[in-house]
Amino acid sequence: RPNADYDLNTPIPDDAAGLRQGLTSYGDAHFSLFLRKVFIKALGYSEDALSRPIIGIVNTYSSFNPCHANIPQLIEATKRGIQLSGGLAIDFPTISLHESFASPTSMFLRNLMSMDTEEMVRAQPCDAVVLIGGCDKTTPAQLMGGISANKPIVHLVTGPMMPGSHRGVRIGACTDCRNNWAKFRAGTIDVEDISAVNEELAPTAGTCGVMGTASTMACVLVALGMMPMKGATAPAVSSARLRIAEETGKLAVQAAATKLTPQQVLSRESFLNAITVLQAIGGSTNAVVHLMAIIGRHPEVAGTIDLETFDEIGRKTPLLVDLKPSGENYMTDFHNSGGMLALLHALKPLLHLNARTVSGKTLGEEIASTAYIPVPRNSPVNCLHPLDKPLYASSSLVVLQGNLAPGGAVMKASASKDRRLLSHQGRAVVFANSADLAQRIDDPELDVDANSVLVLQNIGPVGNPGMPEAGLIPIPRKLGEQGVQDMLRISDGRMSGTAGGTIVLHVSPESADPESVLGIVRNGDEIVCDVEKRLLQLNVPEEEIKRRIELRKTIFKAIGKAAQKHTRGYRGLYMRSVNQANRGADFDFLTAAGP
Ligand code: FES
Ligand code: MG
Repeated sequence: RPNADYDLNTPIPDDAAGLRQGLTSYGDAHFSLFLRKVFIKALGYSEDALSRPIIGIVNTYSSFNPCHANIPQLIEATKRGIQLSGGLAIDFPTISLHESFASPTSMFLRNLMSMDTEEMVRAQPCDAVVLIGGCDKTTPAQLMGGISANKPIVHLVTGPMMPGSHRGVRIGACTDCRNNWAKFRAGTIDVEDISAVNEELAPTAGTCGVMGTASTMACVLVALGMMPMKGATAPAVSSARLRIAEETGKLAVQAAATKLTPQQVLSRESFLNAITVLQAIGGSTNAVVHLMAIIGRHPEVAGTIDLETFDEIGRKTPLLVDLKPSGENYMTDFHNSGGMLALLHALKPLLHLNARTVSGKTLGEEIASTAYIPVPRNSPVNCLHPLDKPLYASSSLVVLQGNLAPGGAVMKASASKDRRLLSHQGRAVVFANSADLAQRIDDPELDVDANSVLVLQNIGPVGNPGMPEAGLIPIPRKLGEQGVQDMLRISDGRMSGTAGGTIVLHVSPESADPESVLGIVRNGDEIVCDVEKRLLQLNVPEEEIKRRIELRKTIFKAIGKAAQKHTRGYRGLYMRSVNQANRGADFDFLTAAGP
């Protein structure tokens, strides 16, 4: 029987699947297909294999990325799931970003990764794609790119690492990295201890084992319906993780058949569910930036959700998951408490259960149809609080506004270490940038006391491209030695999701913006932060603020724009195109609305 692919009288339909899709390269579609087959056969595929739906698997493995170290095993299990369901699995690489090995910051490269993901998913003949990721910026970048490419996608995360142990106490990256380093700085633990702790903080492959950004985004992906119900919490090194990978492969073949694209799956309600989960888990402040960027990619949802929405949902949503940095436990404990399935059962009254998921079922149907054996409330492993006895009554993440942050600022109130600071008034101690901070913060002569407000300027998206996680301004050593553990700290930067303290972040507009009020704060100015009133205010007369802004503008006009215009390469693209944190720090030309 002649091969129908070479029948010149039968046109190849525009909506053909598998290898037959998108044959535009040579004008002659039959020839394009003929050539594709020539080259893919060099990899050993048969005509039978090539007749199947093609499920791409995005491989973000790198030897620089311990959070993704289990990806080879996950790919194998995902392929098994795909091939058991009649698909052809083909994996391909995109860039890999690890928090510690992506200078200047992984956030600087998040948008690049989203472009890589979008274009490779679009370019290659995949009917559906499994996006395997895990470390902080990876899952947001993949979902941003996936929504823009708008082919069927399913997410698979690498899963959290196991906790380690030191002197009989469990420890894990990276809340305990910071706690222990702070103790070492303050002189309460010695060099032997800190060396031993270093060996145990990340004892296995996988993502940080607390409610940092990676864990937060994994939970968010389940809430969005983009990942299997049990996909967020199973440890990276568990057999459960491999079974989830197999299930994800099967789900991707199903998505290829239903052709449900992420723009069809995701709705405003999906994102409201994600924000509810974000608040209930005491999720990372970074997730606010990522979610705004993800939402900005969706043509129908963009513009319908803003920072205010996060705050409104927060007021109705209690914090239920007792994990570091807001609480005490680790992701493995959340998994053993029933994970996201148990949380979604508890949150049902607050969720939009009609929101769609990638399986085609609604979130409510998914919750109801997934086998669930609740963990007894009083079980020692249960770190999930019931709705009527929360860990924190509401608003784990708050959005502050006022003349100091007209575009808003974000604080993880639940991770404050000294709750008195949630309503605080103090004198500013200002650092002009990260270098200035590094130079002066431990200076014994620094004019600072426990009531001071530490202000760090110029670590926003444009001011310090990549918006570093430098918002956790260290306590000046002389105060640390006196036992001061928390101070009110304000910046236009970000903070690691694994960190805690009374920290105001993402102030927008950022200080690099000539109109920014944060940019004109001076030493000794009085600052008021009142979380109850959601207020962040600079107590300086309006005329004086205006005067200082005018002064700065003249300097900026000359230097600022020139620097942006003449910086080459990706950095130049970044500086010219990045939008503010309250819009997700995405590139304006990548958003659904465009520049
Ligand atoms: Fe990768 Fe924390 S460094 S998740
Ligand atoms: Mg992080």
